[in-house]
Amino acid sequence: MKLRKIDNIDVRGKFILLRDDFNVQIVNGKITDAFRIEQSMPTINALRTAGAKVAICAHLGRPKGTKNMEFSMAPVADYMKIPLIKDCLDKDFMKEMNDGDLVLLENVRFYPGEESNDPDFAKKLAEGFDIFINDAFAVSHRAHASTVGVAEILPSYAGKLLASEIEQLSAVMEDPKRPLLSIVAGSKVSTKIGVLKALAKLSDKMIIGGALGTTFNYALGGKVGNSLYEADHKDTALEILEYAKENNCEVLLPLDKGVAKEFTPTAKRENKNFTEMEDDDIIIDAGEETTKRDTDAIRNAATVIWNGTVGMAEWQPTWSYGSFAIARTIAEQTRAGKLESIVGGGDTVAALTACGVKDDITYVSTGGGAFLEFIEGRTLPGIAILEDK
Ligand code: 3PG
Repeated sequence: MKLRKIDNIDVRGKFILLRDDFNVQIVNGKITDAFRIEQSMPTINALRTAGAKVAICAHLGRPKGTKNMEFSMAPVADYMKIPLIKDCLDKDFMKEMNDGDLVLLENVRFYPGEESNDPDFAKKLAEGFDIFINDAFAVSHRAHASTVGVAEILPSYAGKLLASEIEQLSAVMEDPKRPLLSIVAGSKVSTKIGVLKALAKLSDKMIIGGALGTTFNYALGGKVGNSLYEADHKDTALEILEYAKENNCEVLLPLDKGVAKEFTPTAKRENKNFTEMEDDDIIIDAGEETTKRDTDAIRNAATVIWNGTVGMAEWQPTWSYGSFAIARTIAEQTRAGKLESIVGGGDTVAALTACGVKDDITYVSTGGGAFLEFIEGRTLPGIAILEDK
């Protein structure tokens, strides 16, 4: 897809409404991972250097159309050391702006019109601006006022991050080096049916892990104890296995798991397979045999696409074992020039960061849901509207 890009537009002295995805994790008022913000900086810096007056529009969490200050953008403004405009519809700040200035608008999801893509709200949001730039790949799967509505009103363009996400992800989808291994994990089969099928069609091998994998083990008659899985998606799991077979994709399901009697970070870990599992066992991580088999599969791949941690990677070190082994092996192989690696999804990227290997990966996407929908081949409304026809 050819996008309208910002390279050749004149922005000097113009008011730019820039949509960024700053939906970052905040703990006690502090940002724990600024990856999305850092990845947005090239566009922000280019616009400022070119003399634009830039107002960033963003969201944080899901305040459901109410001004819930728990979801204020203030920690992001503090982190970026820029002024926060307390109401995204208040345009008074424009009078004070000089060329090259930058402000952050308060959470656009404080208004119900954002998520319903209300035309009146979009009109108010766009008012006073000359140009709209979308650099928020991670929220472009949402047809909201700040992704689609304003793009219908203002001359609109794709920012550098958004354009690079599309280029990098399209390249791997269209012409991957083979063998291609996909690693898909996470909690629910129900939210990943489309992506599992798309990856089954594209990949030579697919590892299905995490609670997602547990549903598959359950569907095949394995004992899964008191773990998280979706009993009502047994048939979906079987259908996906059949679909993978028809498309010559070898599926690697969990062979064993790290389990405990309680779901806590400090719980005592045991390794069990699906015949050994007891009724009160809770699966929290991939097992040792599974991890060995998975890391071997990574060593034999030329391309890896990874989304979803295979256990509670944030409960370190006991329960991060499986996910960190995957992260480190992908990084090692990529560093050695033997692998092209593409990783997306908040928890997955957080796992890369936690084991210090994010910079070794070929391409780390800022998208979570958007990354999955893109891989699935779905049209992302926030991107479709920026197409250069
Ligand atoms: C994300 O974090 O994936 C995006 O910001 C989208 O957030 P949402 O799922 O709340 O729409």
